[in-house]
Amino acid sequence: MAIDDRVKNSPYRSSGLLAGKVAVITGVGAAETIGAVTAAVFVREGAQVLAADISGAQKETAIALGPAAAPFQLDITREEDVAAMFAHAVETFGRVDILVNVAGNPGARRGEEVTVEEYESLTSVHLLGTLLTNKHAVRMMAPAGGGAIMNFSSAASFNIDKLISPAYSAAKAGVNALTKSFAVHHGPQGIRVNAVAPGFTLSKKNHGVPPEIMQNLSGKAALARPGTPQEQADVAAFLASDRASFVTGVVVPVDGGWTARLA
Ligand SMILES: NC(=O)c1ccc[n+]([C@@H]2O[C@H](COP(=O)([O-])OP(=O)(O)OC[C@H]3O[C@@H](n4cnc5c(N)ncnc54)[C@H](O)[C@@H]3O)[C@@H](O)[C@H]2O)c1
Repeated sequence: MAIDDRVKNSPYRSSGLLAGKVAVITGVGAAETIGAVTAAVFVREGAQVLAADISGAQKETAIALGPAAAPFQLDITREEDVAAMFAHAVETFGRVDILVNVAGNPGARRGEEVTVEEYESLTSVHLLGTLLTNKHAVRMMAPAGGGAIMNFSSAASFNIDKLISPAYSAAKAGVNALTKSFAVHHGPQGIRVNAVAPGFTLSKKNHGVPPEIMQNLSGKAALARPGTPQEQADVAAFLASDRASFVTGVVVPVDGGWTARLA
């Protein structure tokens, strides 16, 4: 089933939350990545979407979404790619109202297994990628009178779990700081900047998680289940919309209550 069909067939119908908006979304990989489902939800809510990713999968995803979406290939750690992405969005759709920066890479090394290579790879994609995408988004949005930015952080940015890479947690904590920093610096220009912090979510990459780890991570949530990409995307859509017009500088846990626990 194509991802747009999944969203069409979901119990949630369009509320026109993002009617007439143009969004640049990074991390739009294959179907069932959080980015691909976010792109589908944004189209459902009336936005036009530039679907960007490093993998090449953004092409098929954009085709499945129809004429409201166009693909763009980039590496968010390369400033010239990021500048070209925003230029392409303006060329294609006329302007940019929203950035959703979903792109990320997972860390595998825990505790003392951490390596300089993994640290550099994670900080490069999460931290530098967030810095560059946010920088070029505000350059585009400020002269136009404002906009909304949504970064993807993680529940692992607040507290620590032994299953999660320390370099990943540190990089995502940096994403929270960048979110607040851009919110404070650019609020006067009408730009809102917020973050979504997912808990364990059944995106494509987690479908193959071994059963014991699946059970362990699912049980972390007070709701005792994993989240879905759509549950992440729907919160991002609300925060990006004008209904959240007085919300900026916050990191919203979308984690079924994982971070509400003492441990
Ligand atoms: N799935 C979860 O349980 C979970 C939990 C907490 C946070 N998150 C965060 O949510 C976001 C999406 O998660 P997901 O599960 O869909 O991940 P995913 O790995 O399936 O998708 C991430 C996408 O980012 C793209 N990407 C990676 N590096 C890139 C780069 N340099 N430039 C451009 N694109 C790049 C990948 O190609 C991929 O399509 C990530 O930032 C992740 O850290 C996910």
